[in-house]
Amino acid sequence: MATPKSKNLTWHEGQVSRTDREARLGQRGATVWLTGLSGSGKSTIAVAAEKALADAGHLTYILDGDNIRQGLNSNLGFSPEDRTENIRRIGEVGKLFTDAGIIVFTSFISPYRADRDSVREIMGEGDFVEVYVAASLETCESRDVKGLYKKARAGEIPEFTGISAPYEEPENAELVIDTNGQTVDESVQVLVGYLRKGGYLG
Ligand code: ADX
Repeated sequence: MATPKSKNLTWHEGQVSRTDREARLGQRGATVWLTGLSGSGKSTIAVAAEKALADAGHLTYILDGDNIRQGLNSNLGFSPEDRTENIRRIGEVGKLFTDAGIIVFTSFISPYRADRDSVREIMGEGDFVEVYVAASLETCESRDVKGLYKKARAGEIPEFTGISAPYEEPENAELVIDTNGQTVDESVQVLVGYLRKGGYLG
């Protein structure tokens, strides 16, 4: 946990434990951290995987960069410092959701390895599932779902990941999902299969 600015803080325990909540939900809480370039398929996979789990009776949630940046993180841009703060906050929110017993999918580029590793460090063993949604820059750029690569190439978006800002590939991700040549359904099967085998789904 980050060193707090304030002193004189006391941690209060509740009377309902995480184990109680998980028993009620019939699942294990987790933060499924999707990382990858813009357009790699993170949000698409998060939405489809969440639907599959919800249909099977699980309690899930999605934290998505484009959405969270319109609310909680509306004061953050795309400088390295702001991206680090973006990921730090989402790590903390993911930790709370995980403690609530919920399976939360996060969909953030999260380009810096150190930032992702910092999130891993604040999470308990097995609570953080790093999923590298791998697609080449060429693939993402040819999809250009939001038209942002075109703008970035034209110099209209500074510090755009993959074009004028870095993306550091994961080295120890729990799972790599290669969307270059895989359908959404196939990707979801791989992801849900991992969670089932890992005992997250009860
Ligand atoms: S992160 O790098 O801090 O993890 P985040 O996932 O929250 O990024 O937001 C990325 C989304 O913001 C992209 O999918 C895209 O829609 C939008 N975006 C706007 N400007 C940029 C930029 N300069 N670099 C990357 N994504 C951007």
